[in-house]
Formats: sequence, structure tokens, C-alpha cells
Amino acid sequence: MQFQWYPGHMTKAKRAMQEDLKLIDVIIELVDSRVPLSSKNPDIDQMANGKSRIILLNKYDLADDARTKCWMDYYEKKGYFVAKVNSKSGAGVKAVQDIIRKACHDKIERDRKRGILNRPIRAMIVGIPNVGKSTFINSFAKKACTKTGNKPGVTKGKQWIRLNKNVELLDTPGILWPKFDDQSVGLRLAFIGSIKDELFNMYELSILLLDYLRENYPEAVSSYYETEQVEESAVQLEQIAVRRGCMKAGGAYDVDKAAKCLIDDFRAGKLGAISLELPECSEDVDV
Ligand code: G4P
Repeated sequence: MQFQWYPGHMTKAKRAMQEDLKLIDVIIELVDSRVPLSSKNPDIDQMANGKSRIILLNKYDLADDARTKCWMDYYEKKGYFVAKVNSKSGAGVKAVQDIIRKACHDKIERDRKRGILNRPIRAMIVGIPNVGKSTFINSFAKKACTKTGNKPGVTKGKQWIRLNKNVELLDTPGILWPKFDDQSVGLRLAFIGSIKDELFNMYELSILLLDYLRENYPEAVSSYYETEQVEESAVQLEQIAVRRGCMKAGGAYDVDKAAKCLIDDFRAGKLGAISLELPECSEDVDV
């Protein structure tokens, strides 16, 4: 499957984010735990320019725990402060306050030596669309804080969420654009719903998802839809059409409708906790 995608409006968003980055000490980057590399925009690494970095593996409830653990190790080895969170339920969210403090330890010490005491650390959330930025900010804000108004000396219009006396979070997230030169990265982003569905043929997408699942999570589809395990994805999709009552007038299978059901069920986690990539096998999904 071949597709091209260029988000033109991202040039403006990138410029706005560069301005915001000047105001902050630590970047908290959200990635999707099912695709922790494909959902990470590599351009942020240049833009970050020496700031402390935190990676939060969000939606860990939807991902395979063992693989999430591998990804946490992977990013820790690269020097990031790392945690997994479920922004929807709030699990792991409160602990992020401590991680921010740890990530900024050196900066706090530097300030202290220069006689600057109690200057709050400023943090900002960034991530590609749909990764859970707004959900995380809401959850984080509820856990620990009240909103503060504009502060003198801070760009007009910026709102900061005061988490405690030491940490403030910019209340608008930085939207990064999904980036892929590699089609398999685009495909993974399509599976999780981070690229508009209109750009894809849902039937083909569902066949590729079924191929991947058969290889990596052989029982996920048959146990959820209560179907027999088969070797052909096209046949499997017909089984799903039958189970989900996706029929056309005249009694033919509506495989396009079944494809949409499958993708929706996968995205909602109904097929189980499933990850789409591993650190050492970024070629997990063949296009
Ligand atoms: P964004 O700002 O980065 O664009 O993402 P947003 O917070 O809008 O979240 C996108 C979707 O991901 C939302 O679902 C949200 O509920 C869901 N989500 C966020 N964090 C988690 C998580 O940790 N686990 C799970 N399972 N889902 C999460 P939605 O269907 O668009 O909205 P809603 O029906 O859930 O409100």
C-alpha cells in the first residue's frame, strides 16, 4: 500500500512551538505505547536543544506490557526520563510530578548555586495528534493543581497550570506532526488512527492488520470474534463480517464494513493489549 501525506499547516505549528519552547525547562513528550517509535516525531530532538526530556508512554492500557517494558528500557538507555501512563484512567499520572523534578535536578541545583530559589520549573507537553495530550493535561491538572493566570514577563495569553510550588505546565500542548519516510511507520500510525482514515483503503489496511496479528498475536482475533483460526486474512475478514452481521442486500459479505469494525475494535483495545513494534524489530509490520 502506497500513500503520501504532507501536513502543510505544520510549518506554522512548528514555529509556534519553537516560541513556546523558549519559555520552558523540560519537554514532556507523549508517545503511543503501541507504537512508541512510530508515534515519535524525530524533529523534536533538534528543536529541544539541550532541554531536559521526558518520554511518557501513554495508553499503556492498550499495549502489550512486556513490549512496553522493552521500550521503557530503550528510551532510558537513550538518556530520557521515562514513565508509562494511562491518561484516561489517571494511572501513573501523579508520579509524573516526581519525574519532572528528577529531570530538572541539575537545573534546580544550578539555580540554587546562583542564589535563585523557588523559581518554578516550566514544562510543556508535546506529541502527535490523538496521542492523548489533552487527556493527559486534564488528568494531570486534576491530580495536583489549580490554574494560574498570566504572569508578568510571560508571553501574553499563555496559561500555566501550577502543579505545586515547584512545577508549572503550559496548558496548551505542542502539536507535532507524524513523520514517516518509511511506509511501515505510516502504516502503524494508520492502524492506531493517527492519520486520517480517508487516506487509506480500509479493506487493505484491515488485511495488513490481520496479517500482523496472526504472526504476533495469533489468538487475538479468533478469541474476540469467536471464530476459527484460519491462515488467510481475506477469509478471516469474511468470518468477522458474519460474526458482526456485516452483510449486503442479497446476502453477500460486506467486507468493507467488517474491515471498519475490525479497525475500530483494534483501536478501542477490544482485541486485547497489542503492540505494533519492538525496539529491535522496527520492521515488524511489512507493507
Ligand atoms: P490529543 O490531544 O493528543 O489529540 O489527544 P486526546 O487527548 O484528544 O486523546 C485522543 C483519544 O485518546 C481520546 O479518545 C482519549 O480518550 C484517548 N486516550 C487518551 N489517553 C488514553 C489512555 O491512556 N488510554 C486510552 N485507552 N485512551 C486514551 P476519543 O475516542 O477521541 O475520545 P473519548 O471518547 O475517549 O473522549
